[in-house]
Parts: sequence; C-alpha cells; structure tokens
Amino acid sequence: MVQRKPLVAGNWKMNGLAADLGEISRCCEHVAELGTSLAAEVMFCPPATLISATVERCRSARVAVGAQDCHVAQSGAHTGDLSAHMLRDAGASAVIVGHSERRGDHGETDALVGAKAAAAHDAGLTAIICIGETAGQRHYGLTLNVLERQISGSVPNAATGSNTIIAYEPVWAIGTGLTPTPDDVANAHAFMRERLGGLIGAAEAAQIRLLYGGSVKPANARELMQIADVDGALVGGASLKANDFCGIIDAFVTK
Ligand code: PGA
Repeated sequence: MVQRKPLVAGNWKMNGLAADLGEISRCCEHVAELGTSLAAEVMFCPPATLISATVERCRSARVAVGAQDCHVAQSGAHTGDLSAHMLRDAGASAVIVGHSERRGDHGETDALVGAKAAAAHDAGLTAIICIGETAGQRHYGLTLNVLERQISGSVPNAATGSNTIIAYEPVWAIGTGLTPTPDDVANAHAFMRERLGGLIGAAEAAQIRLLYGGSVKPANARELMQIADVDGALVGGASLKANDFCGIIDAFVTK
C-alpha cells in the first residue's frame, strides 16, 4: 500500500508585501494547533522577495516554503532571474515550474519547463510541475492529449516521489471559480499516474504526489481532496487570506 502524504501548497503569485506576512503566521499557528490531527503537509510559495521572511515565520510549525519559478542555469549573466540554487540558499525546499501563467506570459515550452525541473533537482529542490489544458483544448476533447504531451515533455526521467510533485491545473479553472467535475479530475489524475508510470516506471509513479489546482476554496476542498489519486491542492487566491487557507487545510484534519 503506497502512502502519499497530501500536500496543501499556497501559491501567492505576484502578491504579498512584508505587511501581509501576518496571514502566513496565522496559518502556521493553526497548523501548530492541529498537530498530528493534520494529515497533510503545508507549504507557502510566496514571491521570492518574501522567501527568507516566510521561512522564519514557518519554521516552528514545520510549514515548508517553496518558490514560484527558477532559471535553468545555476548562475550567470541572466539579469532579473533567480537560480534554483539561490532559492534553496534563501530557504526554499521546493519550486513551482511550468505554471500556466509562466507558460502563457513568458512563452515557456515543455522542454524549458523540463529543464527547470531538472535544475530544481540539481539544487536539491522538489519540483512542483504544473500541467493542464486550456478551455479551448478542453472544448475540442484534447485534455488527455495535452496532459500526455506536457508530462512527456516536462517531467525529467530522473523524477521520483521525493523530488517531484505534479499539479493538474486546468487553465480555465484558475482564478475563475470554475472547477472540473469530480469525475473529470479523477480521470485526469488516473491518466497522469498511468503516463508517469510509462515514463519512470509504475512503482516510482505510485510515489509521486498529484495535486489538483484551480479555484480550490474551503467550500469545495473536501470534495476535491477525496477524489482518488488527488494527493493535495495547489491553491492560488484562497491562500492569500489565513481564514480561507486554514479552511482548506481543515479538509485534511483526521480527528
Ligand atoms: P486559484 O489559482 O486557486 O486562484 O484558482 C491556482 C493556481 O494558479 O495555482
């Protein structure tokens, strides 16, 4: 029996000033209070400017800290970019790569996302690789084709259950309040698990956590998190306010 500890990760995107760190502190207090009744890991992925301060606030509750993107190189002449090594040095233990906003805003290809995931691995970071179809692709019945292409193109062959997490984030569900049906999520996740098996072997694929992301909120978290092969959530908007994010975390309380 494979045991995958669920992960609830909050992606702050380009939001958050030092004055907002109190929201993170309040979540950490809640996580500490829940103690062993919380059957999930919690992570914040703040903007890079807040990584070090977030690490300080998260330490005692053992809440993890991740970054939102990295460059493929370890260092060099890349003005404005940050390497996975730098993010690790700042205290991050993970980095999101291939978020649809990066793919869309910056034209990131599957190959580039795969190289970023490999760079994260080299730096000792867990790569949280985001995949998901657009509304148009869904309309034309291409969801599984897109997931197949994104998995084979952006998941490194060296991916393991300890260095890689995959987040299924339908682009049309991000920030819209829309979510796929539980059946659609179950189908996508089962397909992802199977394709990962083809890439790295079924035993290793069974260890990889598959997150769902896109309009997760306290009101729908329980239902979404009960779906087979859903091993947690990547949360955008609802991670910015402690009340909302704690409500999602509470979906993982066992007693
Ligand atoms: P959302 O964003 O929760 O605001 O829909 C999810 C994400 O983009 O990771």
